[in-house]
Formats: sequence, structure tokens, C-alpha cells
Amino acid sequence: MTETESNIRIFATCDIGREALELLRARGYEVEVYDQLEPPPKSLIIEKVRAGIDGLITTLRDPIDREIFEAGKGTLKVVAQNAVGFDNINRADANEYKVPFTNTPEVLTEATAEFALLMLGAVARKLYPSEQLVRENCWGAWHPYLPFLGDEVTGKTVGVIGMGRIGQAFVKKAVGFDVNLLCYDPALTPADFLTGVREEMDLRYRNGFSPGRQTIRMTSFEEALSGSDFVSLHVPLIQEGKFSTFHLINEKTLRMMRPTAYLLNTSRGPVVDEAALAKALKNRVIAGAALDVFEREPLPQDSPLRDPELLDRVRLFHHFASGGRITRLSTDPKRGMAGRCVQSLIDVLEARGNLASLPAIVNKEAFR
Ligand code: GLV
Repeated sequence: MTETESNIRIFATCDIGREALELLRARGYEVEVYDQLEPPPKSLIIEKVRAGIDGLITTLRDPIDREIFEAGKGTLKVVAQNAVGFDNINRADANEYKVPFTNTPEVLTEATAEFALLMLGAVARKLYPSEQLVRENCWGAWHPYLPFLGDEVTGKTVGVIGMGRIGQAFVKKAVGFDVNLLCYDPALTPADFLTGVREEMDLRYRNGFSPGRQTIRMTSFEEALSGSDFVSLHVPLIQEGKFSTFHLINEKTLRMMRPTAYLLNTSRGPVVDEAALAKALKNRVIAGAALDVFEREPLPQDSPLRDPELLDRVRLFHHFASGGRITRLSTDPKRGMAGRCVQSLIDVLEARGNLASLPAIVNKEAFR
């Protein structure tokens, strides 16, 4: 252990995983953890940062902005976010104060994509109402179509909004359901990926694995909405500007969707205007929705999405898409968020030389 490492102090706003935090202690870091279920008040984070910590471990629940960076002026060396999304961190403020921040990309890609697909199945095939029927002892008799039917997934068209890592992983898994894919991304056309998917689709068809020849193509946002039976969101939350995704799904864009279509959101809550969505669901503008993220989390008691009238067509989850055991807790930086988070923190704190060359850092632009 070097002199510097033995003096490093970390504050974690949440217990991101004991074993991973032990890795920091094993290096001689002093680690304090806010060990409560609820996030700490911002005033406490400011107090800890002002007391001179070197590294701050955060989750998506913590607003990290100018106030925090000002409190850590001259001492705070890194903010390590235990999530791939970092919309809770004000990038411009971090850049102004020249504080690097890191996130946990890649490790949660498969878990999140998998969950999106499972949510799709849950809402389309009415898994929850079916279980409820059995549990509440309301299953009177087997009947061909009563008390309700679900919608098949096989052979349908799925719109994928956002073709980054998670969007692509979702596509790879969806291919096995024999669906056609309409993909939209404002900034990205992953040509090699699309070629690979087409080759796989052709192979499946030639081998008799799929009933029809499946298709995938990039398209406009409008066509991805209007031409799909399911629309799955895989975009980051961008509050403003040309690529803003705030309320991307709103009253107008919901009307572009088919009345038989389902919306799936595993990205960020504010990408969807929830009031407009609840209204659209009630008026049968679309058939259903499965949501893992919300404009306000935890979902408020008075959210219109809780309307009992919507129970048969809305599935609600507790920001759980990345909530697989390995994905959340593995200390292996290639497999787990906790491992990735602490490794990125170490990489920055123990970096010698140019920070801009460190892959772990999100806001590299501030160090060029
Ligand atoms: C989860 O939502 C994440 O951004 O990691």
C-alpha cells in the first residue's frame, strides 16, 4: 500500500455491495457507507464532501450538481456512479469543477435487455392477471377465451427506440421470438450489427427455425411507433437539445402507436409523459404498457398509473431491470455493477497521467 492509498477516503451514499466495498478497504482506503434503505439527504452528501473525501460513490437516487462539486473543491477527485445512466449527475457542473465521474456500462446490458423482453411477455400474455385469478381463487373453469386472452409475441413487429448497447442486446434476444424489428436511433446506424442480425434471421429461416423470413431495418421514429405491435425504449434521458428524450413518448406520439400496441420502458421514467400515458391507456389509444422506471421514483401513491381500471393492461416494476444477483453484486468488473463501480473509482484515484485516456471516465471532454 502506498502512502497516498492509505489516506484515501470514500463516502458511499448506499451499500452497493459489501464484498465490492471490501475491495477498497483491502487497498487501505477508508470507506464510510450510508447504510440505510433510503438515500441520504443532499445536505449529508455535501457535509461528507466538504469534510474532504477523495471519492464519492453514488446511485441514480442522488442529485449530484454544483453544490456538491463546490463543497468538494480541491479535494473531491471522483464521483463513481453505480449505474449506467447518469442523468442525476450534472455533467456541465462536473466539467466546470473538473471532477471526473464514472458509470457502470456493459455489465448490466444483458440483464436489462432480458428484463425488457420478459416485461413484454408479462404484459402481452397477461401473466399477472392470470396468476391473480388463480391466487384469488377466481378461476371457475377452463374456457377457450374467458375470462380474458393475451396477445402472442411470435411473428409480431417490435419497435426498438435507441440502438445503443441495450437496444442491440434486446434485438439479439428478440430474434428468438420470431419477430420483425423496426429500429430507430437518431444518431447511430449499427451497420455491422444489422448485417449480423439479418444473417442470423436467414439462417433461422433456412433451418426451419422460424415460420417466416424475419426482417430488421432502421426506420424513422414515426414508423417505429406506427408500424409496431410492441415499442421498447432504450434511450438515455437527455433533458434538452437536439437529442432530447424528455417526454419523447407523449400524447402526440402515443397517438402514432396502434391501438393494439404495447409500450415498454426500461430506460428512464421522464422519457415517458406518464399523465399522457395513463390517459392513453384508459382511452384505449394503446393496448398496454410495462414500466420499470418512472418520472418520480418510488412511484407516488397518487400516480394515475395505479388506477385500478388499468390493472389488466399495465405492469409496474421497481426499477428492477438490472436487478439480477450477479449483475448487481459481482465484484468482477466485467460482470457486476458493484465490481465495475469500485474498479472505476480505483482506476481514477490511482491513475498516473492523463485522465482523458482512462476508459472508465464518462466526462473525458473536461480533461483533454
Ligand atoms: C439503471 O437504471 C442504470 O442506469 O444502471
